[in-house]
Amino acid sequence: MDSMSQKVRKAVFPAAGLGTRFLPATKASPKEMLCLVDKPLIQYGVEEAVNSGIQNVIIVTGRGKSSMEDHFDVSYELEQLLASKKKTEMRRLVRAISELAEISYIRQKEALGLGHAVHRAKDLVGNESFAVVLSDDIIASKTPCIQQLVDVHDTYGASVLALMEVPKDQISAYGVVEAEPVEDSARPDSLFRIRNMVEKPKAEDAPSNLAIIGRYVLTSDIFASVESIEPGAGGEIQLTDAMKHMMQNRPIYGLKFEGKRYDAGDKAGFLKATVEFALERQDLGPQFREYLKGLAL
Ligand code: UTP
Repeated sequence: MDSMSQKVRKAVFPAAGLGTRFLPATKASPKEMLCLVDKPLIQYGVEEAVNSGIQNVIIVTGRGKSSMEDHFDVSYELEQLLASKKKTEMRRLVRAISELAEISYIRQKEALGLGHAVHRAKDLVGNESFAVVLSDDIIASKTPCIQQLVDVHDTYGASVLALMEVPKDQISAYGVVEAEPVEDSARPDSLFRIRNMVEKPKAEDAPSNLAIIGRYVLTSDIFASVESIEPGAGGEIQLTDAMKHMMQNRPIYGLKFEGKRYDAGDKAGFLKATVEFALERQDLGPQFREYLKGLAL
């Protein structure tokens, strides 16, 4: 079957980066296992994928693989202990994590770049469109961000990237697109056809204020494009370079998604997400709000 006419069933989670911005926490464990309130970052991403109708999750791991596997595995000892203490709700919560999705793991032995990490999943993905989720980008939204991209993919039969408007003084931290608006009454002023992408441009060279963030739906010809490119910035096989290569033959769309994105792979972004997510929680929010009000800021 043509990869365009298939449902998006799989999501690749590259989780083999070095996480240098979050040292020393990431010295021996992956940043995807950092905990936002009481859940590791990667679980937020897996839940977003599942809530977007995706059941097959492929995690590309480097160091600290076992902590991720253990997290999504059944923990009999813990479940039995919780059962014996009559902590039924906790037991249900722990069991539910192992039943969230069908998860496979593949190793990226060296952190050779995001494009290389995605390519490691080639055999597990096969000839179908798939989502890519960078789980240090946490997104709070009404409709899961991946679902928003899947909807565009299903309508246009093409790859689509999540875009966000970024102020000029921060734009050089991102991949930035040159794009033209696409008229779409279901997505007013939000859909673009991408014409070019520039990785981390100087503010004055940025082609727009639209940055690529960590959610993509890609057609499977991205794998051939990764194979066709040379290492780029930082000597890494860049996903941006592979997408630019793919764009020569296939259109790529960009969606200014509905929702708020937090850069939880960065210490300040992680703190902001922690505060806002804690305030939203019914069990923690009220007392946490009181606590914050009492601080001499
Ligand atoms: P980042 O650009 O955030 O890099 O990677 P990083 O190494 O994880 O973190 P810093 O910048 O050093 O602090 C974006 C995503 O791509 C994955 C990372 O795990 C992260 O989810 N990645 C990156 C890989 O899986 N392999 C790589 O070779 C590079």
